This record gives sequence, structure tokens and C-alpha cells, in this order.
Amino acid sequence: MSAAPQQEKTFYLETFGCQMNAHDSEKVVGTLVSQGYRQVPTVEEAGLVLYNTCSIRDKAEQKVFHRLADYKKFEKQGKRFGVLGCVAQQEGQKIFEKAPYVSLVAGSASYRNLPQMLIQIEAGNRRVTGLDDRETDECFETEFTARTNPHRGYITIIEGCDKFCSYCVVPFTRGKERSRTSNSVLAEARQMADLGYTEIQLLGQNVNSYKDSAGKSSDRKTFAELLAAVGEIPGIRRVRFTTSHPRDFGKDIIDAIDSVPALCDHVHLPVQSGSTRVLDAMQRLYSREQYLERISWMKAAQREISITSDVIVGFPGETEDDFQKTLSLLDEVEYDAVFAFKYSPRPNTPSIKMDDAIPDEEKSRRLAALLEKQREIQKRRNRKHLGQTVEVMVEGKNEARGQWMGRTSQNKTLNFVAREGRSFESGSYVPVRVTTAFPNSLVGEMVEDAVPAYAVSTGEAR
Ligand code: 5AD
Ligand code: SF4
Repeated sequence: MSAAPQQEKTFYLETFGCQMNAHDSEKVVGTLVSQGYRQVPTVEEAGLVLYNTCSIRDKAEQKVFHRLADYKKFEKQGKRFGVLGCVAQQEGQKIFEKAPYVSLVAGSASYRNLPQMLIQIEAGNRRVTGLDDRETDECFETEFTARTNPHRGYITIIEGCDKFCSYCVVPFTRGKERSRTSNSVLAEARQMADLGYTEIQLLGQNVNSYKDSAGKSSDRKTFAELLAAVGEIPGIRRVRFTTSHPRDFGKDIIDAIDSVPALCDHVHLPVQSGSTRVLDAMQRLYSREQYLERISWMKAAQREISITSDVIVGFPGETEDDFQKTLSLLDEVEYDAVFAFKYSPRPNTPSIKMDDAIPDEEKSRRLAALLEKQREIQKRRNRKHLGQTVEVMVEGKNEARGQWMGRTSQNKTLNFVAREGRSFESGSYVPVRVTTAFPNSLVGEMVEDAVPAYAVSTGEAR
């Protein structure tokens, strides 16, 4: 007796938000594929349409509702829709009211249970939820993770955040801090090295408050020790980490970067504001001076460390004087890149109730002024690389320009040309001399006879 032909199970997944979310999507894809689903590139082709959402700012949150507004086109085709990630966790069951055609609402700590949720959806259940108990649930990794890049892999080391900055929704969407044991992180990193990965990115909302719970206390590692241990795994050539909170950022991290060459010379240390008064209102738990002390550790490092940051403009009550303090901080630090945002009031956060909202036009003016200043700083910063030879990890080729695309240990985009006929696999490491500097990228040419090294510096180093 032949079985009835099974309809193929297909899914489409779109991801919004940060690297944590991008990595969560790898867990979701891995799990769905292990359950017999095939990923397809368009909503049209999919039986199950998933959005892995972000709610850090209102604009990010609205994106998923814009996507879902299109559902009418697909209503008759029997597609199922699912909302995952931070908006799911934040809004919970309310999503079913807002968007009745959604069948699945699941937060990030529940992805381990996705197989059971899929079975329920397949059985026709139209109200399936995976809303985390954010005190205890964790989902550092699912059983199957579909890593999309064969050379660079993410590893979650800490979930959630206990800092409660007054503007931030993350403690409400990703819950309390839960650290993974160092044994398990190192085992996964070694496994990835065996599979040919050469770059590892350690992820967490606040990697600096990592607390190892490995068996014996003598085996427990601090974050800096864990970082160094990953960097010492044979085959691993680059280790990055994101994101850091200045309050917990210790000098031992810089010491680790100094002593382990595979640790990338890049630190992302969000400042948010250059005014201590505003930092206090944001409940950031550090002053401008304390932040600058951490920057001074980086500037004293043996290798030149590229420093990047996040800034919020127009926080309630931010005066022109406060804003000028942020601008002067940019001058003082000379960041290599800054991600700047207009303050966006978020549900559940203390700052939503604060007086003295800044009008949107004023926020826009401050944002534009800040970005203009930062562009000049980046032009200056990037010019310092002219003449240096640095190692890039190749990411592909821009055929139209005839340039190979690569990334430096400092996380800068460095596109390069090479002798005719030379071809590079993605993931290979190539020494490149910088010949042109733009504010957001560098251009160079391959150095044919250079000794491969982590960062060979010639020309005008700092
Ligand atoms: N409004 C604007 N920007 C925000 N960020 C976090 N919450 C908000 C908010 N409510 C920014 C911070 C953070 C980055 C990821 O997003 O700069 O570091
Ligand atoms: Fe967005 Fe924050 Fe959630 Fe990342 S953790 S997806 S930035 S809300």
C-alpha cells in the first residue's frame, strides 16, 4: 500500500534586529530543517511564514506589522504566519488580537520547544505560543543550528540583561541574565574549529557580566579568561565579542587582547551619551569620566584597537549643553564608527514616563549634526591606515568593480585588487596594503610577497 503523497513543508524566515537575533534565526532554521521543512526565499513559495522581530525602537517594531499587513494577499492560500523574537515576547498573546491570522507567537528562550510547536501548527492549532519564563528558560543553542556562514560563527555565551537602562526594552524581551558554562562554550568553539571555522563571535546583550557556572569553582572563567581561551584554540584566527556594557568592562579584556593575537583589535563599547547628567537619567551606572578611563586602557594597548559605539540623541530632558558634551566626547575618543539613534519611547521602560520629551525635529537635527561630525572623524581615522599592510578575511567579490571584499581584524571593510587571474575563496586570509581611505571603508591592493601575520603594520602607524 503506498502512502498518500505528503505535501512538502516549506518556510520563509525574515530577520530583523541585532546579531543575537541573526544567530537565533540560525537556531530556528536548523530546527525547522531537522523537522523536515525546506527554507524558501519568498513568502509566495512558503507554507509557513516567520518573522524574527526586534522591538528596540518603535520603527523596528512597526516593520513586522507592516509585513503582516500584506497577509490578505495570502489569506486564501492557507499560509500560516508566526511572530518570533522580541516583539513576540513583548506583546505576547496581544499579537493574536492585533493580527488574528498569526498562528504562532514565540520568544527567543522557547526555541528549544519549536518542534512541539510545529506539530501543533501542523495539526491546525491557530493559537500556538512559546512565551518564555524569562527567569529560568534559556536557549543558548538548539539541538540543530544552521550556521549560514561557513567561516564565521556566532556562539551565545549569555542571554538576557539585568542592567535595566531606563530606555531599554531588552530586559523585558530577553529576560534575566543567564550565562552558559565555559566548558560548553569552549566545547562548541573547538567543534567549530574542527569544522573549519576560523572566526568566532561571542554574543550576549552584555558579555562583560558573564558569570561562569562551570562545575568546580576552580574551573570557572571570567569573561576575559573565556575570551582568551577561545582565542587559543588551534585553527581559530579571529575572535570578536559583542556587546559590552562600560560598567562591567574590565581592563583584563584589554590585557587579553594584548596577549592573545587571535583576539580582534576591535571593541564596541556603547556610550549612549557624553553627559553624566543624561547617563544618570538613563541609569547607565557610569559617568563620562569612568567611560573615558576605559577608553584610555584601549588607547594604551599594544595593538591599535578600533573603538565603536552606540549613541542615543534626544533622551527626555537632554539639553543643548548635554548634546554638546556628546559631540565633544566623539572628538575626544575619535571613534572608528558610531551607530546613532533618535530616542524612541518603549513600553514598560521607566523613561516612557519622563517629562521633557524632545520634539522629533530637534532629535533629527541633533542626529544629523552628530553624524556629520562623526563622518569627519572617520575620514581622519581611516586616513591613518594609508600605507599599512593589514590582513583581511575575504568575504566575496564585487564583479562590477573588479574588487575583492574583505574585513580587517578591526572590523573595517577593506576592498582590494589582486594580480590578474588571482582568485580567492571566501574565508581566506590575504595581506593587503591600504591605498585609499573613505569614511566607511578602505581600498587596497594585495601584497604578493607579504609574510602572513595577524596585522603587519608598516607605513604610518599611529
Ligand atoms: N531608543 C533609541 N535607541 C535605543 N537603543 C536602545 N534602546 C533605545 C531606545 N529606546 C539603542 C542603544 C543601544 C542600541 C542597540 O540601540 O544605543 O546600544
Ligand atoms: Fe532588537 Fe534588542 Fe531584541 Fe536584539 S535584543 S532583536 S536589538 S530588541
